[in-house]
Amino acid sequence: MNGQQDGAQRDRFPKAVSTQAEEFSRRLETMGQSRLAAAAQAAVQGLHALITELRPSSDEFRQAIDFLTEVGHYADARRQEWVLLADVMGMSSLIEDQNSPRPHGATPNTVAGPFYRSDVPEMPLGGNISRDRKGELLEVTGRVVALAGEGLGGAVVEVWQANAEGLYENQEPDRQPEFNLRGRFRTDSQGHFRFTTVKPKGYSLPSDGPVGQLMSALGLGLERPAHLHFRVSADGFETLTTHIFDRSDPAIDRDAIFGVKPELMAEFRLLPPNGGKRTYALDLNLVLCPQRRDEQPLGGDDRWHVSAATTT
Ligand SMILES: [Fe+2]
Repeated sequence: MNGQQDGAQRDRFPKAVSTQAEEFSRRLETMGQSRLAAAAQAAVQGLHALITELRPSSDEFRQAIDFLTEVGHYADARRQEWVLLADVMGMSSLIEDQNSPRPHGATPNTVAGPFYRSDVPEMPLGGNISRDRKGELLEVTGRVVALAGEGLGGAVVEVWQANAEGLYENQEPDRQPEFNLRGRFRTDSQGHFRFTTVKPKGYSLPSDGPVGQLMSALGLGLERPAHLHFRVSADGFETLTTHIFDRSDPAIDRDAIFGVKPELMAEFRLLPPNGGKRTYALDLNLVLCPQRRDEQPLGGDDRWHVSAATTT
């Protein structure tokens, strides 16, 4: 190996933080470069730095292993405790930020969360997505626009939300009608859309598993402030997946999954009494940015997709 190659390898495998991590790097270097090797190196280096800093006892190390084992035991087809762990540590939100950057002025992207459904039928503008009519009315008017401000006609606006008790339709299929509080609309020629719904309530993430126990031990909550989810797609523009939060929700500063951003906080305005139910109004602009050209994946030889057989 010549000096230039040595330098490139050193850049790719930065200085290790323990003799074991150093040896791990040395062994990796003999195997050639790959995205997987770079990730393994970074993980080992980060974990060794953590161990060097915290100096855990053997018992503490065993407790950490037991916790991770328990997280695995809680994860199944209906309940993904690993995703929950990534969410409450802010990792899911960070990954979303990195993979879906938005220019200044565009509505920020957020995680979709576990309750999205893609099979909701389209409704006419002005439709009511509350199929059981339970809750305080919320009239939503909005516009889908490009960065320069022009309205985008024909954009598809999907919305989904929890009900007035903080529960999604697919969390309690026996109590809520199919597609309750879910809608799909197409903007008019000026980019406008509107629909009627009910004011959503905030909710808590599951607290009965190891992640909930960890958060409780840390004194941290699992609350999510009240919000509507949106997904907006239009030809030639990046699909936007985002939340709009009720800025008056008491939990607005402590969203358990770090989805709240200043641009995503809105006022759910209480309208003057008009004889009937309390009614709120929400007006919003959803700003799309032009579609990016596909970027090349980092690194050359992509070995992320390791089969089960090769990992045992
Ligand atoms: Fe949600």
